[in-house]
Amino acid sequence: MEKRPSAKTPVWSIEDSASLYGIREWGHEYFNVSARGEVVVNLKDGSKTKPVSLAQIISGLKDRGTQLPVLIRFGDLLRWRIDELNEGFATAIREAKYQGVYRGVYPIKVNQQQEVIEEITRYGRKYHYGLEAGSKPELIAALAYMHDPQAYIVCNGYKDEEFIDLALYAQKMGIQVILVLEMPSELKLILERSKKMGVRPTLGVRFRLSTESAGHWAGSGGDASVFGLNISQVMRVVDHLREEGMLDCLRMLHYHQGSQIPNIRAIRSAATEAARVYVGLVQEGARMGILDLGGGLAISYDGLKGNSTASSDYGTKEYCADVIEAIAEVTDEAEIPHPDIITESGRAIVAYCSVLVINVLDINRFEGNGIIKVTDDSPALLKNLHDLWVEVTESGKKITRERIQETYNDALYYRDKLRSEFSYGKVRLRERAQGEELYWKLLSWVSEHMEQAGADGGQMSRVEHVLTDYYYANFSVFQSLPDLWAIDQIFPVMPIQRLKEKPTRKVVLSDITCDSDGKIDHFAHGCELHQSLPLHDIDIEGGEDYMLGVFLVGAYQETLGDLHNLLGDTNVVSVSLDNGKLRYRREQEGDTVSEVLSYVEYDPKVLVTKFRELAESAVTQKRITATERKEIMAAFEEGLRGYTYFET
Ligand SMILES: Cc1ncc(COP(=O)(O)O)c(C=O)c1O
Repeated sequence: MEKRPSAKTPVWSIEDSASLYGIREWGHEYFNVSARGEVVVNLKDGSKTKPVSLAQIISGLKDRGTQLPVLIRFGDLLRWRIDELNEGFATAIREAKYQGVYRGVYPIKVNQQQEVIEEITRYGRKYHYGLEAGSKPELIAALAYMHDPQAYIVCNGYKDEEFIDLALYAQKMGIQVILVLEMPSELKLILERSKKMGVRPTLGVRFRLSTESAGHWAGSGGDASVFGLNISQVMRVVDHLREEGMLDCLRMLHYHQGSQIPNIRAIRSAATEAARVYVGLVQEGARMGILDLGGGLAISYDGLKGNSTASSDYGTKEYCADVIEAIAEVTDEAEIPHPDIITESGRAIVAYCSVLVINVLDINRFEGNGIIKVTDDSPALLKNLHDLWVEVTESGKKITRERIQETYNDALYYRDKLRSEFSYGKVRLRERAQGEELYWKLLSWVSEHMEQAGADGGQMSRVEHVLTDYYYANFSVFQSLPDLWAIDQIFPVMPIQRLKEKPTRKVVLSDITCDSDGKIDHFAHGCELHQSLPLHDIDIEGGEDYMLGVFLVGAYQETLGDLHNLLGDTNVVSVSLDNGKLRYRREQEGDTVSEVLSYVEYDPKVLVTKFRELAESAVTQKRITATERKEIMAAFEEGLRGYTYFET
C-alpha cells in the first residue's frame, strides 16, 4: 500500500519549485528544473538540444580548481537569441509582405566582452547583423570585428574629429557606417571632415520622440530626453544639407525610446510617430531608406506579464510583427517605399547568456531556539511573554484569525515595553535577551499558523518581513549586480539544487561586502514581488554546499560593476556541449587581491616591503620569532595572490 504523506511532510514536487521560482516564465525554453530537482540549462549538442545541470557544471569546475562565485557564459543562448530576433523579423516581414529588410545591430555597450562581440559578428553574419558603437573605443572594437559589407555599424554618441575620421575611413573601405547626429553642432564637423577626405557620409539623425513610455528608462525618450534633436532642429539639419547639396547623404531616422519598455502599446505608438517623421523627411527630399528603432525590446525578469520595469507584456514575435505593421501602415498611406529596419536590441540579446553562481556561507536565523525559564523574581513583562507562550502552545484552544492577531499584538506590546524598561535600567541584559527570544518564538508561531487561519496579508504581512533569515552568500552586489543596487532591478534568483524539497525558510540574501546595501531583498516569485526568497534550511555546520543561481545577468552588469570593498571580478567560464561532454573554454581567473589593490594605486611590492618592516620590528621586539616571521610573510604573500572572494 502506498504510504500517505504525514501532515509534517508536505507534498512537494519539482513542478511546485518551477512555479514558485517562475523559471519557465523568465527562463523561456532555456532554463528548467530536472526530475532530479536541479536547475538545467538547455544546450545544443550537434543538432539536438540537451538539458545540462548547473550543479554538474559547477562540480566539473570545482574539480578543475575553480572557486565560486563564478560567472558562466552560454554561447548557445546568445546564438539562440540572435536567431529569435532575426527570424522574428523575417517572419513579420514575410507575413506583412513588407518590402524592406531587417538589419539589426547589437549595441556594444550592453556587454562589451570580446567573446560576445566576436560571437555576434561571426554567428550574426548570416543575418548581416551589425554593431552599434556609442564611443571611440566601441567603434574601434566594431571595426576590428565587423567586416560584413552588407551589415551596418551605427555610430551614436558624441563624436570628435578622430571618431568621425575613423567612421569615414571605414566607409571608404566598403563598410556601411552610419554617423548619427545626436546634436545639431555635430553636422558642421562631419561635413568639414568628409569634404576633406572626399567621402560622402552616410548620415542618420536621432529624433526626440514625443511619445513617452513606461519603465525606468522612459526618460531616454520623450520631449524632455537629453538625447537627440527636436523636430525644428531636424528641419534645420535638412535645410543645411540641402544648401550644401548633400540631402542625399541623409539616409536614416533614428530614435531610442529607452531600455526595457514593458508595454507593446508604447512601442507601437513610438514606431507610428517615427514612421510619420520618416515620411516627412522623404517628402522633404532626403534620400532616406532606413528607420532605426533603437533598443527597448524588453525581457521579463520577474516572469510576469506586467507593466513594470522588470516585466514585459509582449514577446519578441509580437514586437517584430507590431513594429513592421505600424511602419507599413504609415508608409503605405503616404505611398512611399517601406524603409529597411534597424533595431538596436541589447538586453534581449545578451541578458540570458550569463548566469552568476554563488554559494551560501552562513545563516543568521531569526527565531527563538532556547528554552526560557522564568522565576518569581523575573520582571512582570517577561512573565507576561512567557505566559503568552505557554498559552499558545499548551492551551489547545482553537487557532482563529482573531487569536493570531491578538497574540501578535500582545507579543509586540510586551517586547516593546520590556525594551523601554531596559533603557530605564529596570530590566537586566539577560532578562531583555530572554524576552526577545520569547518574542521570536511567538512570532514564529504566528507565522506558522497565519496562512491556515486566513490571517495573512494586511498589517500581518509585517510578520513575514520581521521573521526573515539572512543568508550570507559569496558575492558582491556592487561588482556583479550593480543595477540591483543602483536602480532596484529585479533578477531571478533560485537554488540550483534540492528542488524536490519544499523550501521552508524566508530569506534575504546578504553579500560579503560590509555595506548595508549589499543585499538582495526584492524578489519575484509565485507571480508576485516579495521582500524575501523561499530557500531551504541548510546544514552549514555539516558543510552543506548550497548554491544559488542569479539569472539574466548578461546585460549591462559586467562592466558597470565596481570594486566596492575591493571585491574584484569573479571567475568567468564559457560552457558548451560537445558530443555529450561538457566543454569549459575561455576560463578567466577573477581578480587577485594584488590586482585589485593595484587598481587603486598600491604597488604590491611596496606592500610586501612595508609589511616585512612591521614583521621585522616585531622580531626585534621579541613579539614573534624569526621562524614565525617567515610563516607570517608567506601568509601575507599568499593573501596577495588569492581570490578576493571567500575561498574554501
Ligand atoms: C541608443 C541606444 N540604443 C540601444 C540601447 C539598448 O537598449 P536595450 O538594451 O533596451 O535593447 C540603448 C540603451 O539604453 C541605447 O541608449
